[in-house]
Amino acid sequence: FMKFIIFNWKSYLNFKESTSLAKFLAKMKFDKRFKPIVAPSNISLGHLNKTFKNLLFSAQNFDLYGKGGFTSYTSINDIKDQNIKFAIIGHSEVRQYSGENDYIVSQKLKIALSSKITPIICVGEDLLTYKKNKTKSHIKKQLNIIFDKKLKYDEVLIAYEPLWAIGSGLVPTNDEVLKIADFIKLFLKDYTFKKLKILYGGSVNSDNLEMLSKIKNLDGFLVGSASIKKSFINNFKL
Ligand code: PGA
Repeated sequence: FMKFIIFNWKSYLNFKESTSLAKFLAKMKFDKRFKPIVAPSNISLGHLNKTFKNLLFSAQNFDLYGKGGFTSYTSINDIKDQNIKFAIIGHSEVRQYSGENDYIVSQKLKIALSSKITPIICVGEDLLTYKKNKTKSHIKKQLNIIFDKKLKYDEVLIAYEPLWAIGSGLVPTNDEVLKIADFIKLFLKDYTFKKLKILYGGSVNSDNLEMLSKIKNLDGFLVGSASIKKSFINNFKL
């Protein structure tokens, strides 16, 4: 049973630092139970993907528009052309700082599907929703907007990332993650996927990794701030 480990480097590293950490990853012998995927900054992505052939890379985002007069945006065309296999869609920070919403996520998912890019879709509730015990209905609302029963999806990764757990050091209990992961699978059981994987993200680090790894049937983790630390990466060493 293989677990995806998405290293989301966000905007933590500059080009030099990204290259050096990618070199470290490329030289490391990964335990075969893990499938690491690195999501560096846009400006480093192309170079790293070309340089480190034994690693898998993901874009952190792409835009809706494709090829054309769209200054400052990242076209899926560019990602596809560079043979990058994955793209994160709907990360909470993109939702927060760039106004991305579930409707936009659904559009981007269609673009990823037609471009043969494996999407890593982020969903999750805010603290108030969590406290009110409304997580399931929130996730259901998101999935309803994002996925279309009439479409046939290839491989899709969904990262359950409670907003209150991202960058906060707080994590839900294993039981809470399991419940939501099962809920997502149940909700999507009538939808067509070649493969559907459910990951967890939000404050995963060296201290809680072992505990979180006990969650049954979870397909991996999306890791932010810990993913730039060699000490964390070493957890996946053979
Ligand atoms: P974090 O970020 O691991 O730093 O909490 C996770 C994420 O943003 O996906």
